[in-house]
Amino acid sequence: MVSSLKNKFLVLGALFLFVFLANCSNNSNKQEAAIADSANCEKPKPLNPNGDSELALLMRKMMHASESMKEMVLQGNVPKEFPEEFMSIHTAQPTDSETKKASFDGFASSYISNVKTFVSSPKEELTKNYNAMITACVNCHSEHCPGPLKAINKLKINE
Ligand code: HEC
Repeated sequence: MVSSLKNKFLVLGALFLFVFLANCSNNSNKQEAAIADSANCEKPKPLNPNGDSELALLMRKMMHASESMKEMVLQGNVPKEFPEEFMSIHTAQPTDSETKKASFDGFASSYISNVKTFVSSPKEELTKNYNAMITACVNCHSEHCPGPLKAINKLKINE
């Protein structure tokens, strides 16, 4: 699976353009739900009301990317490339420094490895591997940020 860097950027670009467009259509309800949910993370609001943390912004991208991946799986397709940007989950700054507990990096690595398994899935294991990836979101959120759990669980596909 050694593809050129250029290809990776093209695919990533396409993915984000898709996410961006999906975002600009009538998805504002979902966005509002995600923002309302984030209030249930039981953390103080950032001092700057516009100041969403790096981690929160990354999570919203992950949420939207997962929604697109769900559509692809339901249509029997799979994204061929790992979204490299998600690697920054380890370093992205959370809203407050208490948010990332000691177990965070373990959950983050487990999520990343599940994404990698998913993007290299054989067709017959697509749904299973997709759901395993979403379970990795759920596992971290159960401990770190229970607010969005309901929305995340909706990403699962009935097997
Ligand atoms: C390793 C732990 C971890 C994993 C894995 C993880 N999250 Fe998160 N997520 C967090 C933390 C911590 C926050 C709170 C971020 C903050 O407030 O800075 C968060 C915040 C969120 C938010 C709220 C963002 C906002 O608007 O404030 C959503 C939605 C979300 N995650 C969805 C997901 C989805 C979908 C996945 C899987 C594709 C996922 N998360 C995987 C830890 C994780």
